[in-house]
Amino acid sequence: MPKKYKNLINGRWADASSKETIESSNPANDSDIVGIVPSSGKKDIDAAVDAARKAFNSWRLVPAPKRGEIIFKAAEALVKRKAELGKLVTKEMGKVLKEGLGDVQEAIDMAYFMAGEGRRLSGETVPSELSNKDCKSIRVPKGVFGLITPWNFPTAIPAWKIFPALISGNTVVFKPSSYTPVSATVLVDIINSAGLPPGVLNLVHGLGEATGEYLASHKGLDGVSFTGSSSVGAKLASICALSGTEITCEMGGKNPIIIMHDADLSLALEGALWAAFGTTGQRCTAASRIIVHEKVYNKFLALFTAKAKKLRLGDGLKPTTDVGPLINEGQMQRVLRYIDIGKKEGARLMCGGKRAAGGALKKGFFIEPTVFADVAPSMRIAKEEIFGPVVSVIKVKSLKEAIDTANGTDYGLSSSIYTRDVNASAVAERDLNSGIVYINAPTIGAEIQLPFGGIKKSGLGHKEAGGRGGALDTFTTWKVVYRDFSGSLQKAQIED
Ligand code: UN1
Repeated sequence: MPKKYKNLINGRWADASSKETIESSNPANDSDIVGIVPSSGKKDIDAAVDAARKAFNSWRLVPAPKRGEIIFKAAEALVKRKAELGKLVTKEMGKVLKEGLGDVQEAIDMAYFMAGEGRRLSGETVPSELSNKDCKSIRVPKGVFGLITPWNFPTAIPAWKIFPALISGNTVVFKPSSYTPVSATVLVDIINSAGLPPGVLNLVHGLGEATGEYLASHKGLDGVSFTGSSSVGAKLASICALSGTEITCEMGGKNPIIIMHDADLSLALEGALWAAFGTTGQRCTAASRIIVHEKVYNKFLALFTAKAKKLRLGDGLKPTTDVGPLINEGQMQRVLRYIDIGKKEGARLMCGGKRAAGGALKKGFFIEPTVFADVAPSMRIAKEEIFGPVVSVIKVKSLKEAIDTANGTDYGLSSSIYTRDVNASAVAERDLNSGIVYINAPTIGAEIQLPFGGIKKSGLGHKEAGGRGGALDTFTTWKVVYRDFSGSLQKAQIED
């Protein structure tokens, strides 16, 4: 019998009030049920928001370094349970084990980083224009946050949101994807057991439309942080606009890698392969367009296709597997539809292009790594996010054409250039229109101590992760304090 998991509301583990449940299955073997979680409704969310609201009044007054100590303990516990949790991530989400472990490592990195923020969280003190008066700005928590996260990083993305929310003094109602709820539950259990008071971190499982949308619309929230598709982000943003709740959205990408004629081609090949097919292309940062200078186009294409053909599909827990499954049937069908669109648009299919269902693969949702060549920037496969192991290779004549092509979509999350020309790299750094630019490195693998997020359809509101302009801007607001110790009425801007 698969194990049953619960919601966490006000420090207590509970079923959904309706007693309804959702099954989470292994995408490499659909009949393998990883766990069963509650399918929550309005009542459960109301209770969680209520608990978070009550807990906020005391949590905000816990000194930030003390909040940091609890987060530090959570980091230590995550380190101890990394192997177990990484394996669970692979089983539930499908990414290969090394990446499952990397997912947990990213959560650990964020926990340590945010624990340290408890002793920083700095504002400004500046001189006053009046005597015997001082002025400062301080970061204060916003209140109760709804956190809605996707399935592609079952522990890292929740950690990106939970730790900065908590260190800042907010309380949380967390709704993870219904495709990876077990990993999220174990993560929450670890964080909660590090010593959080009841109600500070609440977990409510459920389906996106019923639970996620109701949570986002909840009047009891002060903010929402969402990661997922651009279409769901836009929907949640419109819901939040009506209720007047602030929302931060981290959304899709159509991330390009430019390969110039002077690039170290074997380095570029490895990078393109990793960014296109790592995590089965299911990263918002995945490279789905490779823009190649005409002088090396044929050579790159031949080598890249040969390497893509050699990638071994399979269960991510097997050490021989290079590429795991798609998350579910629906996502697999969506990717297959895009492959069809690419063929109809006249792109040249170099390899892949179909479901792989031989032997044990038939139990899961596998698609062969797919390379389209001679793709025109106007084709849908070059413009729309596919979120799977499908990459479009585009030929260009110059650096300018490469950058214009790279910038020519509605997205702007991550981009990359491979070149040995220092001037070309500087121009690309300046002109690539995306939140993240890589030079001689692929589009994936952002580190947590810098802001993460994109422009255009890739991002809305503040950025994620660490550093100036990162998640602390989502989870805190500025309070400005003027203190007049002159004992007399002093009037700013008024001449006597
Ligand atoms: C995502 O796919 O939503 O930069 C996040 C990266 C990872 C995060 C990806 N650190 O690829």
